Amino acid sequence: MIITIDGPAGAGKTTIAKLVAKRLGAHHIDSGAMYRAVALAALDKSVDPSDSRKVAELLSKIEIIYIPLPSGFELFLNGEEVSKRLRLAEVTAGSSAVAVHPRVRKHMVSIQRELGRKYDLVMEGRDIGSFVFPDADFKFYLDAGIEERARRRLMQYNIKPTTKSLASTIDDIQERDRRDSSRQIAPLVIPRGARIIDSTDLSIEEVVEEILKAVKGR
Ligand code: DC
Repeated sequence: MIITIDGPAGAGKTTIAKLVAKRLGAHHIDSGAMYRAVALAALDKSVDPSDSRKVAELLSKIEIIYIPLPSGFELFLNGEEVSKRLRLAEVTAGSSAVAVHPRVRKHMVSIQRELGRKYDLVMEGRDIGSFVFPDADFKFYLDAGIEERARRRLMQYNIKPTTKSLASTIDDIQERDRRDSSRQIAPLVIPRGARIIDSTDLSIEEVVEEILKAVKGR
């Protein structure tokens, strides 16, 4: 069984996908973590994440192993477990820059499809229902208003939402959404056949229930 959850940055995909997977006894796969791992490798090696040639060269020297766990995941980058470092602000910014390169996408998609052969899973990302698993059993597109998404992002980092912090977070999120939606290969789109959920005014539990109801109803 494959369930896909796509959507823009800060829509709550990770929180929701994790809970849905737990309730269904499936594995949760955070595909964004893989792009973040490439951005982290670039950061560590002082490679410009927007330089496609250098990033491709770097890609040939790195090995990414993603291990889903009941409590989250482990991600090994050349043998080192790096999951905690994937949330660094520089890594977040670099992740959407490395994600535009065709070689990077091809490599990440092959890791994701391999996981799909092994596990029942709930995979979240930007192109999972549209490109990675177009024949998935269930597809969802999770969205929320930009201010709410910025507020959630700040709360995740324990930063108080002030006019200033909200404005700069909105700028960051919009820039990432713009890059993710406008790239040539597998941009962020609403996948064909996906159920759209706007979570702006919904609680986490309400979103999880809506997904479970759709899955169990079939
Ligand atoms: O979901 P996230 O914020 O951790 O994703 C980080 C970046 O990775 C996102 O800005 C774009 C890229 N990404 C992608 O291009 N395709 C995916 N399936 C998942 C993430």
